[in-house]
Amino acid sequence: MARKNLIAGNWKMNATHLESIQMVQKLSYRLDIADYDRVDVVVCPPFTALRSVQTVIEADRLSLKLGAQNVDPHESGAFTGEISPHMLSKLAVQFVIVGHSERRQLFGETDEVVNAKVKAVLAAGMTPILCVGETGDEREAGDAETRVRDQVTAGLADVDPDSVGSIVIAYEPIWAIGTGKTATADDAGAMCGLVRSTVAESVSGTAAEFVRVLYGGSMNPGNVAGLMAKKDIDGGLVGGASLDPDTFASVVRYWV
Ligand code: PGA
Repeated sequence: MARKNLIAGNWKMNATHLESIQMVQKLSYRLDIADYDRVDVVVCPPFTALRSVQTVIEADRLSLKLGAQNVDPHESGAFTGEISPHMLSKLAVQFVIVGHSERRQLFGETDEVVNAKVKAVLAAGMTPILCVGETGDEREAGDAETRVRDQVTAGLADVDPDSVGSIVIAYEPIWAIGTGKTATADDAGAMCGLVRSTVAESVSGTAAEFVRVLYGGSMNPGNVAGLMAKKDIDGGLVGGASLDPDTFASVVRYWV
């Protein structure tokens, strides 16, 4: 079965709402229908820019899809400073990054919290982009496979098996994020294959066939084509290279 490629820009804590409007407008000038037919293009601006970006997408009838970088797993209530899945879905957010390594490392998100977020995002009718990946030390110790397998299994625990095929999983080796170091295409392809086989073992073969697996970690216009050539890599989660619309458009149009 043919999985549609997906390239998502994770803007992290960059861009005001005004800058974000300019960024999506510029990006939209660089992409056309043929690009969107081939790739789902997602932008994940900060919370404060979601409404502005959504308005541009709607007004200009862009085929860009909107994503958020995080969410709280609760429905509502006394959670000062948090944003609920329902609030995001009302803004036409379709994708939510869950369990990014920065959230895990800097904000103490455990596998249990990540799993609760995956379920909450699905329950609100959106698609989680579940992030997994090993540290440099884990890789050197030969533990990368075990770590990633455990994160995938824990992230998907008790998720309705029929929903798993619609999920996106991003394999992002932590040592490659924002460092300019990329995993080789062969290593990245093998690890994305491991993510897929873990879904097959822990959920079902059908889910594994449908689930989209992304690579993330210093993806850029120079390395994207090699990575995308791997059969188990269905796209990318792009940080630094998504902040410049020209550069991000070149990543999206990786076959050109
Ligand atoms: P990077 O970030 O492309 O800047 O390495 C990727 C990510 O953190 O999702």
